[in-house]
Amino acid sequence: MTEDFFKYQAQTTPHPLALKISYAKGSYIYDTSGNKHLDFVAGVSACTLGHCHPRVVSAIKNQAEKYLHVMVYGEYIQEPAVELSKLLAKNLPKNLNTTYLVNSGTEAIEGALKLARRATGRTQLLYANNAYHGNTMGSMSVMGYEERKNAFKPLVPDCFPVTFNNEADLQKITSETAAIILETIQGGAGFIQPENDYLKKVRERCDETGTLLILDEIQPGFGRTGKLFAFEHFGIVPDIVVMGKGMGGGLPIGAFTASHEVMALLQENPKLGHITTFGGNPVIAAAALATLQELTETDIIQQTLQKEKLFRKLLKHPMIKEVRGRGLMLAAMLETPEIASEVILACKDQGLILFWLLFEGRAIRITPPLTISNDEIAEGCKIVQNVLNRVK
Ligand SMILES: Cc1ncc(COP(=O)(O)O)c(C=O)c1O
Repeated sequence: MTEDFFKYQAQTTPHPLALKISYAKGSYIYDTSGNKHLDFVAGVSACTLGHCHPRVVSAIKNQAEKYLHVMVYGEYIQEPAVELSKLLAKNLPKNLNTTYLVNSGTEAIEGALKLARRATGRTQLLYANNAYHGNTMGSMSVMGYEERKNAFKPLVPDCFPVTFNNEADLQKITSETAAIILETIQGGAGFIQPENDYLKKVRERCDETGTLLILDEIQPGFGRTGKLFAFEHFGIVPDIVVMGKGMGGGLPIGAFTASHEVMALLQENPKLGHITTFGGNPVIAAAALATLQELTETDIIQQTLQKEKLFRKLLKHPMIKEVRGRGLMLAAMLETPEIASEVILACKDQGLILFWLLFEGRAIRITPPLTISNDEIAEGCKIVQNVLNRVK
């Protein structure tokens, strides 16, 4: 199978981890040789409730026995999508009450960018340096990493960068700007948090200029930082919030949420302003609904803060310069990208899955399932400590 993986399946790097998966349960992935791997990555922040959470699996099975795809998005009334959108509205601030369900994070970003242009009649879009919002053309146009964009240019016009956390740059938001899009906590950049009320200042400048604030919660959202959405930590509310990844409990989904008035603009002038065949798919919506119910009916989200403290305590080592991030969106910073890679690969051999961040080579990604136990955290951190003690 390994040979066929390299021969028939398109690759994204010359050196994939190439773990051969047999099955996965809770915080562990089991390979076809019978080895068990403790998962500190959770499918890159996607498996919020761990692997094959019983409530999610049961929701998928129940829905699969009733109906699968029946119609393109938005035409028929399907209970899972309706209930999911309603529960999201219940858990979001008042102005974020209408959700458009799509198939992935990047597609939700595309929808949000289009909606901002449609709502303001303006074209200019601002984004942050080192931002990552996905890999389709629109999302890449607002990606803050030129090296990865150059080969695909020309991208969408009228997109300009600002520096995250830089107050002076907020003057670049003007009455010409349709929207500024930011990750609430920058992921690929190295889990960089907004500082000195930065998001409040962005919000104020947007209000002054009639610009929409789009927050990308695709990675920090769905409880990973100790709140359902990370913007709740910073005392502001965006005009459009974008979500994905952990929302689906392990199935592919994305969504963008705005006010009813703004979202209604996609219905006319032109009509069908954003369409998708599979968005709101009943099986996937059922899995996302079960995930959101589990998160909001238990104390899983609150527990992430205690688990963060445990990680910070157990990851103290002279080679770890800093642990960045919040909740269970953490990055252990090593001195060089080479050392970080060595540690990630050595931990893999010891049965612990770690991963890289997109643009920050010195970081080791620690984004486990939110359901990880204290014992599992201790087990994984011990492996990291042992590996670090051996690295030269
Ligand atoms: C912050 C952020 N935005 C957007 C995306 C794109 O999501 P997807 O890979 O589902 O298209 C990602 C994925 O890593 C992300 O982390």
